[in-house]
Amino acid sequence: MRIPRPLPPIPKDLYRLYSDLAFWQRWHVRLRWRLCPFLVIAGQVPRSGRIVDIGCGRGMLANYLALTGPGRRVVGIDKQETRIRAAQATVRGRTNIEFRYRDSRDLEVSEFDCVIMTDFLHHLSYGEQEELLRHCREIVAPGGLLLIEDVGDRPRWKWYAHLVIDRVLNFGRRQNFRRPGAWKSFLRSLGFSLTVIPADRGIPLPDILFVCVKSPGREARARSIGGRAGSERNGPEVSRRKIN
Ligand SMILES: C[S@@+](CC[C@H](N)C(=O)[O-])C[C@H]1O[C@@H](n2cnc3c(N)ncnc32)[C@H](O)[C@@H]1O
Repeated sequence: MRIPRPLPPIPKDLYRLYSDLAFWQRWHVRLRWRLCPFLVIAGQVPRSGRIVDIGCGRGMLANYLALTGPGRRVVGIDKQETRIRAAQATVRGRTNIEFRYRDSRDLEVSEFDCVIMTDFLHHLSYGEQEELLRHCREIVAPGGLLLIEDVGDRPRWKWYAHLVIDRVLNFGRRQNFRRPGAWKSFLRSLGFSLTVIPADRGIPLPDILFVCVKSPGREARARSIGGRAGSERNGPEVSRRKIN
């Protein structure tokens, strides 16, 4: 059996931005980089244009995108003050990135070429998730992208590992997960065309990435997924690992 290779460590120029943080926060920055497929996500982001990372935490992905794409204008938003202040401290005079202390419910209406959410949506209530995604349909520019990294349900052992890790990290609080199939139908009903990329390589979690393209001109027929109980009842709907 081949032992899977772990994700690479955080790039030095990115980690350097966090040098003023307390030891445990820097430890969390490094750990987070190892536990989230940020490079897979970054690989889908346009080289230039306006990008927003909603629920950006301390802003590692937003910073990475700004560092590696001078033509990008990146905004990170988060409602947790300590995290967003830590992110703001990393800006250090750069002009293609900013961080705003904001709740996703108060997102202004401006247009973005790419909207990103990593390990974020399940922190919202089911109703708030739907409302935000409908809003995203409005703020993604025609032909633009909505990238959602969240938890899939394959392989099974990673799904169970994620349940345990998540409960521990969230002090036992339950998060509002949905089955991949439920996300897919809702995103399609909003008029996005969709590719689902497995993003669990090198990590013990069943991460997947929804790459949603806003198809200009298509009529959006948003419908409700049916709330928490309904979506939780949906059985695993992803039988293939990559769905176009
Ligand atoms: C698991 S962390 C993920 C952080 C970052 N996206 C990452 O991948 O490292 C979830 C983040 O979402 C933020 N968050 C939760 N609800 C939010 C809301 N309604 N508006 C903005 N941020 C929110 C939390 O403060 C937290 O920083």
